[in-house]
Amino acid sequence: MSVPEYQDTGPITIPESIAPTNLAGKSVIITGGASGLGRAYAQAFVDHGAFVTIADLNPGFGAKAVEELGAKNAQFLQTDVLNWDQLVQAFEAAIKNSPRQSLDVVIANAGIVGHDDIFTLEDPQAPPRKPNTKIVELNLTGLLYTVKLAFHYFRRQPAAAPYDRCLILKSSLAGYVDLPGSIQYNASKFGVRGVMRSLRRTAWREGWRVNLVAPWYIRTAALSQAVQDYLDGKGIGFALAEDSARAMLLIASDEKINGRALGVVSRQQNKLGVIDLDLDDYPAGNMYNDWQKIVLDTAGILVE
Ligand SMILES: NC(=O)c1ccc[n+]([C@@H]2O[C@H](COP(=O)([O-])OP(=O)(O)OC[C@H]3O[C@@H](n4cnc5c(N)ncnc54)[C@H](O)[C@@H]3O)[C@@H](O)[C@H]2O)c1
Repeated sequence: MSVPEYQDTGPITIPESIAPTNLAGKSVIITGGASGLGRAYAQAFVDHGAFVTIADLNPGFGAKAVEELGAKNAQFLQTDVLNWDQLVQAFEAAIKNSPRQSLDVVIANAGIVGHDDIFTLEDPQAPPRKPNTKIVELNLTGLLYTVKLAFHYFRRQPAAAPYDRCLILKSSLAGYVDLPGSIQYNASKFGVRGVMRSLRRTAWREGWRVNLVAPWYIRTAALSQAVQDYLDGKGIGFALAEDSARAMLLIASDEKINGRALGVVSRQQNKLGVIDLDLDDYPAGNMYNDWQKIVLDTAGILVE
């Protein structure tokens, strides 16, 4: 399969329904796949015949997921995405134990949200306290480790038999709006856009694709009850885990989709629950396009 050089082709059309037939036998690794949205992705890929490796911190959720998905369809590797050696083991196991000893789809999903130590208002007369930066480390450094290994193991596989290889990065609509008080979460999810935009310019050279999924609020353990109650009280709709899983299946199965960011939104906002955000390219005539061209030329010197 040859992936063309990234060009802005405009937003993709989201199909009313998808029934992918080309995921059977593929090997998919999902970080943070033991519960929440990652677990929904694991189910969706197994339902379409893929073999899923769940790389997650939580052994209880991991064991339960494999029991439910079936040991011939899924495996669990206890993995902290910030632990390089554990992450390497998970990628090695994904290849070794999958039906074709391959790695076809990598979903960099693990992420956390929570109290942000950078924002905390403290006594300005007291000595400053070194903040905890775990949110940005996990959401960005952990994701970058996953990207690095996707890169490594995608390239290791034989180029002679062309086949699709696909990296999907997990951002959030918090990567597209202002999120006061959650500086690290806001920054990390914007950062994921930067990772996608940089990679889409080079991944095609190695014959693989990169895209991003950015959900609106979805009910999982990550979402505080207070936020859920507020949204419920205002009648603001949630996005659905099943729509987020459909966005993943669509990207993984359609070899033409490259360099796009799909938003997962409430069905009140869009009846399909999935949209192409179309915010990572600029309209014709916009001065950003001129800057982009020069940056691509200079960056070309750096990546040769
Ligand atoms: N739920 C939402 O509203 C929402 C919206 C937008 C984006 N997201 C993003 O989706 C992703 C998944 O979120 P979720 O709502 O399913 O969260 P969740 O808390 O329900 O699940 C997260 C999973 O990641 C695992 N995990 C945590 N730290 C890990 C680590 N260091 N290494 C490996 N695994 C780890 C947990 O054990 C858990 O299984 C995150 O990146 C999150 O930022 C969620």
